[in-house]
Amino acid sequence: TDFETILLERKGRVGVITLNRPKALNALNSQVLKDLIVALDELEADSGIGAIVLTGSERAFAAGADIKEMQPQSYMDMFMSDFFSGWDRLASARKPTIAAVAGYALGGGCEIAMMCDILLAADTAKFGQPEITLGVIPGIGGSQRLTRAVGKAKAMDLVLTGRTIDAEEAERAGLVSRIVPAAELLDEALKVGEKIASMSLPVAMVAKEAVNRSFETTLSEGIRFERRVFHSLFATEDQTEGMTAFVEKRKPNFNHR
Ligand code: HXC
Repeated sequence: TDFETILLERKGRVGVITLNRPKALNALNSQVLKDLIVALDELEADSGIGAIVLTGSERAFAAGADIKEMQPQSYMDMFMSDFFSGWDRLASARKPTIAAVAGYALGGGCEIAMMCDILLAADTAKFGQPEITLGVIPGIGGSQRLTRAVGKAKAMDLVLTGRTIDAEEAERAGLVSRIVPAAELLDEALKVGEKIASMSLPVAMVAKEAVNRSFETTLSEGIRFERRVFHSLFATEDQTEGMTAFVEKRKPNFNHR
C-alpha cells in the first residue's frame, strides 16, 4: 500500500512505521491516523511480522495533534466524529509495539508513544503535554497513561504547566525504558523488535495482554488472569519446545504463526 503521511517497511520480522510529515514536524492529522490504521492492520495480519516499531524523524517523533486541523472545529464536530477515538487502534494492537522517539514527542506525540508497549528514547527526545497552552487538555489518553506511567507528581507538573522534559528526566520518571544515542535509535529499536520477534509470537501477544491487564483491573483479578493464561500456555507447542530446548541444552525453535 502507498501512504501519504507515513512510510511502511519490513525489516526482517519487524514492521517499521515512520511518521512522515516533515514540514509539520509529524503533526498528527486525520490522514496520519487513516494511514496508521491501514499499516497496523497490514502488519498485524502479516505472519512474517513479530513486532512493530513506530518512529518519526530526527527532529520530531510527532509535535502533537495537528493544531491547524483542530483550530476551526466546534464541540459538535468533535463529538459527532468522536475525534481521536481512532487512535485506540494503536493501543489495542495485539503484536508488541515499540516507540522509537527522537526529538519532539509533544501532546498527541507523547500520547501515542505511551500507547506503545516499549518506549525507547534518543538522547535528543523531548516529551511534554503542552495542550493547556492551547486552551485544552490531553485528548488521546495523556492524562491517564502519563499518570499511570510516572505518577501524580510528574503528571500534574507536566499537564498543568505544559513544560517539556528531556530524555534523562523522562527515564528517571519511568516514562521511557532506555535512552540511546540518537544515531543508534533505529538500530536499537530494530534489535529490540528482532529479539521479541524471535520468541513465540502467540506467547509474546499473551505476555503484553497480561501486562496491559494490570492497568484495567484489581491485583487479585489480574493475578487470576495471569495464572489462567499461564496454565493455557501448556497447551502450546512453544511451551514444549521452549522447555525441551532448555533441557536438551539447545536453542528453541519457536512458532511464529
Ligand atoms: C500543526 C505544527 C504542529 C502541530 C508544529 N507544526 N507543530 N502544525 N500542529 N502540533 C508546524 C509549524 O506550524 C511549522 O509549520 C512547522 O511545523 C515547524 O514548526 P516550528 O514551530 O516552526 O518549529 P520550531 O520553532 O522548531 O518549534 C518546534 C515546536 C513547535 C516547539 C515543537 O512547533 C510547537 O510548539 N509545536 C506545537 C506543539 C504542541 O502544542 N503540541 C500539542 C498539540 S495538541 P509552518 O508551516 O506553520 O511554518 C495535542 C493534543 C490535542 O497534541 C488534544 C486536545 C484536544
